[in-house]
Amino acid sequence: MNEASVREALAKVIDPALGHDIVTFRMVRNVEVQGEDVLVKIDIPTHAYPVLQRRELQQRIEKALQEIGAKRVTVVTNVETVFQPAPSDKAVLKGPKNVVAVAAGKGGVGKSTVAVNLALALQRHGAKVGLLDADVFGPSIPTMLGTPEVPASASKDSRIIPAIHQGLKVISVGFFVDKDEAVVWRGPMVHRLLQQFLGDVDWGELDYLVCDLPPGTGDVQLSLSQLIPIAGSVMVTTPQEVSIVDVVKGIAMFEKVEIPILGIVENMSYYKCPACGHMDEIFSHGGGKRLAQEVGCDFFGEIPIDTRIRFGGDAGVPIIASSPDSENAMRFMDIASKAALKIASNVLSKPKRSPRLAVIK
Ligand SMILES: Nc1ncnc2c1ncn2[C@@H]1O[C@H](COP(=O)(O)OP(=O)(O)OP(=O)(O)O)[C@@H](O)[C@H]1O
Ligand SMILES: [Mg+2]
Repeated sequence: MNEASVREALAKVIDPALGHDIVTFRMVRNVEVQGEDVLVKIDIPTHAYPVLQRRELQQRIEKALQEIGAKRVTVVTNVETVFQPAPSDKAVLKGPKNVVAVAAGKGGVGKSTVAVNLALALQRHGAKVGLLDADVFGPSIPTMLGTPEVPASASKDSRIIPAIHQGLKVISVGFFVDKDEAVVWRGPMVHRLLQQFLGDVDWGELDYLVCDLPPGTGDVQLSLSQLIPIAGSVMVTTPQEVSIVDVVKGIAMFEKVEIPILGIVENMSYYKCPACGHMDEIFSHGGGKRLAQEVGCDFFGEIPIDTRIRFGGDAGVPIIASSPDSENAMRFMDIASKAALKIASNVLSKPKRSPRLAVIK
């Protein structure tokens, strides 16, 4: 047994969460062989990698190495969020590794709710997370998160320091423009605003920057995709047909501007009466899943109608913060895992970009 034979055996180990072998996916950092003892250092590509699958991965590695004669196998894991470094023409953002957009074809389906809870869920998984409210036409993040622990401020060299809400670094267009003023923004103004806004914020190092978008596919989406690399978008829909038609339109537009769709979340899927347990599918059923099948992308899950989610949205206490162990908070944790794994798998299935182009830090 030597390093080469160990690596050869590891190349046959399929990662249970990513569905790909761990050597091609650059997860094997180091191998040390001493007689019949093997030490393998594994890079886990996201904090949101599920615990159960981490155990399963460890077992698969042990089994593969025992088959080639190892007696003692030690697997050491280290989390290193993977990302595709920004090309030089899209290097406005310094610090965030992956930008995740939350989008929908129409208004009021729960984009901001999903964005806030997704950001908090990624943070609860252990990642460093920021939240950018790019809804210039109706910023709602300030209301949704309530009073910040630390308000946004300006540094000595006039850079913008994000506010801190529940541990998240948050920037909203709503911090800078009046609500009534926001609705009249036109295309070129939106572009200039976002450009300045993205370049001037001191995010520090972040694993994920979750970005809440206005409904539809307009100037904000176009400008963002021109200014920064977006790792992908989570599309939110409700089960009704009309919303699904809008999502299909949205997906086509996102594909045109090269923003990969990570997956679809169906919000307000059903209502379960907390008193009697009766389930009512108010807006029909299964539309999100059907849509995902139709357009060939992942379905990340359903979020039911829940008064705690609505209350969270209106009173500044999102469900992940108010009831972290509730079933619906767990659903957000699961959606966050799926989105982060999808990003990791997209990054790792492409060759590593030359470090000369890496502009982060
Ligand atoms: N699963 C849910 N259960 C209960 N209420 C919800 C749920 N999802 C969203 N809501 C509520 O529905 C309203 C609209 O949600 P939200 O603001 O997140 O939608 P949006 O798509 O961001 O809207 P807009 O297009 O105006 O930006 C909010 O009052 C929110 O609290
Ligand atoms: Mg919104």
